[in-house]
Amino acid sequence: MNRFYRVVFLLAGALQLAAPLCAQPSDPRALTHREDPKMQAFVDELMGRMTLEEKIGQLNLLAVGFDVTGPVVSKDVDANIRRGNVGGVFNTYTPAAARQLQEQALKATRLKIPLLLGFDVVHGHRTMFPMPLGLAATWDMQAVEQSARIAAEEASADGLHWVFSPMVDIARDPRWGRVVEGAGEDPYLGSCVAAAMVRGYQGPDNDLAQPNTVMACVKHFALYGAAEAGRDYNTVDMSRQRMYNEYLPPYKAAIEAGAGSVMSSFNDINGIPATANRWLLTDLLRRQWSFRGFVATDYNAVNELTAHGLGDEQRAATLALRAGVDMDMVGEAFLKYLADNLKKGLVSPAEIDQACRRMLEAKYRLGLFRDPYRGISDKRAHQTMGRPEFVAASRDIARRSLVLLKNERQTLPLRKAGTIALIGPLARSQRDMLGSWKAAGDWQQAVSLEQGLRNVAGSAVKLMYAQGANLTADRRLFDQLNAGGELTFDVRPAEELIREAVQVASQADVIVAAVGESAGMTGEATSRADIGLPGRQLALLKALKATGKPLVLVLMNGRPLTLTWEDENADAILETWFAGSQGGNAIADVLFGAYNPAGKITMTFPRVLGQVPIYYSHKNTGRPALGDQNDKYKSSYLDVPNAPLYPFGFGLSYTTFTYGKPTLSKATIGPAETLTVTVTVQNTGNADGEEVAQLYLRDLVGSISRPVKELKGFQKVLLKRGERKTLTFRLSVDDLKFYNDDLQFVAEPGAFQVFVGGNSRDVQAADFTLE
Ligand code: NOJ
Repeated sequence: MNRFYRVVFLLAGALQLAAPLCAQPSDPRALTHREDPKMQAFVDELMGRMTLEEKIGQLNLLAVGFDVTGPVVSKDVDANIRRGNVGGVFNTYTPAAARQLQEQALKATRLKIPLLLGFDVVHGHRTMFPMPLGLAATWDMQAVEQSARIAAEEASADGLHWVFSPMVDIARDPRWGRVVEGAGEDPYLGSCVAAAMVRGYQGPDNDLAQPNTVMACVKHFALYGAAEAGRDYNTVDMSRQRMYNEYLPPYKAAIEAGAGSVMSSFNDINGIPATANRWLLTDLLRRQWSFRGFVATDYNAVNELTAHGLGDEQRAATLALRAGVDMDMVGEAFLKYLADNLKKGLVSPAEIDQACRRMLEAKYRLGLFRDPYRGISDKRAHQTMGRPEFVAASRDIARRSLVLLKNERQTLPLRKAGTIALIGPLARSQRDMLGSWKAAGDWQQAVSLEQGLRNVAGSAVKLMYAQGANLTADRRLFDQLNAGGELTFDVRPAEELIREAVQVASQADVIVAAVGESAGMTGEATSRADIGLPGRQLALLKALKATGKPLVLVLMNGRPLTLTWEDENADAILETWFAGSQGGNAIADVLFGAYNPAGKITMTFPRVLGQVPIYYSHKNTGRPALGDQNDKYKSSYLDVPNAPLYPFGFGLSYTTFTYGKPTLSKATIGPAETLTVTVTVQNTGNADGEEVAQLYLRDLVGSISRPVKELKGFQKVLLKRGERKTLTFRLSVDDLKFYNDDLQFVAEPGAFQVFVGGNSRDVQAADFTLE
C-alpha cells in the first residue's frame, strides 16, 4: 500500500464512531419519545391556516426523472408543486436540482411549505459501499454505521433529506432477488444492523436538525422477505408467533433507534395488504411500538390495492389512510380521492389532519422550516463528495465484507509473481461492482476486478484475460439486465468462448474466474427459480478445471447460490457480493493477502434449491433427523442431506482459530441474574486475523416449540498469530425471552443450552437452567 493510502486508511479509522455495541432486541415496553412543545405549537399554528387541499397535498409523494421502479410515472411534477399538490419528491439530487424544486414550493405556494426530498440511498450515495448483504457479512457494526454516516454526509450535501433505507426484511429464500438489499436471515443480527444504519443516517445524536443528517425510512413494513416461493411481491401468510419472534425484531430495532419514517410493503399479510393493514400500521406500529414518525407507502402501493382485490382506487385511498398511511408514493390516489372521500364521510377530518401533522413534523425535525435548503451549496457538495477518507472507508469496508468459502492447499493468498489467467464475464465489469440501487454512484469510477489486480500487483504479475462466457445465454434477458451498462454480449458460439478461455488458462500459473450474477439480476423484481450460476458459466468452470491449473473463483452475486460442483472442484472460493466503488481493489487486497478475510455469511447457502427455505434457526420437529439423508420416518429428504453447503455464520480465514469449551458462571440462574459465558479463542495458524465469535442459545423446554439455535451475541476480535484471548458474553433473562402463544414476551424456567463457535454449525455447548 502506498503512503497516501496508508494515511487515508488511518484517517478513515479515526472517522470510525464510538463503539456502538449491539443492544439486545428489547422487550415491548412502550418507548418514551421526547415531546417537543415548540414543534407542536408550530405545527398547530400552521395547520390552523391550511385548507383541506393544502393538507392533502402534503400527503402526496411524486417521482421525477429516472429509475422508474413501477408501472406508472409522475406527470406534471413542477405544475403540481406550484399548485401545492406535493409534499415530497424523490429520484433527483444535486444542489441545483434540489434548489430548483424547493424554490417552486417556496415561491409559488401560498404557505411556502418546503418539500421533502428523498432517494434510494441504500448502500452509499456517491461513494458506494458493498450491497447490504455484504455489509452484514462484516459483522462489524461500526463499519455498517460508518457506511451509512458517509452516505448521509454525501446525500445531504446533494440536497437530500430522506433515504429509503434501511431495508430490514428478514429473508430465508434466495430465490427472492431482494435478499441482497437486507442483512440476511437472522433477527438478532438483522436488528443490530438496522439500528446501526439508522444511527449512521440520522447521526450519533439522532438530531435531524443537523444539516449533515438524513431521515431513515425503515422498509418494507412488513414481512416482505417472506414472499411465497421467493417470487417478488407475492403473498405472505404467517403466524403471529413467527412474526414476533423471527421477522419483526429488525423493524422494531430500527424504530427504537429513532428511525423517522417507515415504508409499507407491497405484499399482503394473512389476507390484508400491508398498505391497507390497520393492525400492522396502527395497532402494532403505533400502539404497541409507540412509533411517532410517518408512514409512506411503497411505489404505487395504494393503487395496487385494487389488483390485490380490495376494491377501486377510491376505496383503496380510504383503506390506506384509515390503516395508518400518511404519504402516498407516486400513485396519487390520496390526491385524487381524499377530498371526495371526506365529503362522503368515508374518512374523517381528524384522519387527514393526523397524516398531515406527521408530514409537517418530519419537515420540522429536519429543520426545513428554518432553512429549506439545509445549507446546500456547490462548494459544500464539491468538498463532500468522494472525499479520500470516504473512498478509503469504502475499500476498507469492502474488504471486511468478503467471505472466503473455500481455500484448499493454501491456494490463496496468491503470490505476486507469474501469470494469472483472469477469466469470466464479470472480470472487467465496473458497473456490476456497484450492485443494484447504485444511487448517485458513478460506475465509471468503480474499480473492476481487473483494475484492482493491476493496482495491487502492478507489473509483478502478468495478467491474461478471456471472457469465457456471457453472463446469461439469454440475449434478451442480457440486454434487459445490462441496460445502459458497459458489458457486451459476445455473439460467438458458447463453445468458442470457452475454448478461447481454456487456451488462455493453459498458459497461466493460476486461474482467477470472476463468475456470478450481474447486478441487474439482483434487487427488486429479480426472482430466480434456479439459483445456480447463470448461463454457460458452470460449463466454463468445468473446462477450466480440466486444465489442471489451480482454480480460484471470485463470486459476484446478490444471493446464496447453489455451488455444489464449485465447492467440490474449485481450489478456492471468495464470495465478494457487489463490493462497491472500491470493489476491485478490495478483492485484490484479499487475493494477494494484504488483508486477511474475516467476513461470514448471513444467509445459509443450500446444496440444492429443493432445500429452500433453509435457515439455521429451524425447529427441531417431532422427528428430527440425526443422521444423514433418508433417515426413514425422520424429517429428512430421500435424495439430499438436511445440512446446507455453507451454514449461517460461516467464513474462513488465512489463519485458523481454535475454540475452548465455553464455561458458565453458574449452572442455574434466577430471574434477576446474569449468566457470564467465557470462552478462549486462539489463533492457531500462521497469520494475524480477525474472527467473529458467535454465541447461540437453545431453549430446551417451553410452552411453544423453540428453534434449535438462536444467535444471541457475537464479537469480532483481532488475534495475532499464536495469540489467545478469553471472550466474555453476558446473558440476562431478557436474552432468554420470546413471544409465547399469547404474544407475551416471557422467559420460561427450564433447561437451556448455550453454544459458542465460529459459525452456527461448528460450536461447543454448555448447559444451564433458569429457575
Ligand atoms: C420500490 C421499492 O420496493 C422500494 O424499495 C423503493 O424504495 C421504492 N420503489 C422507491 O424507489
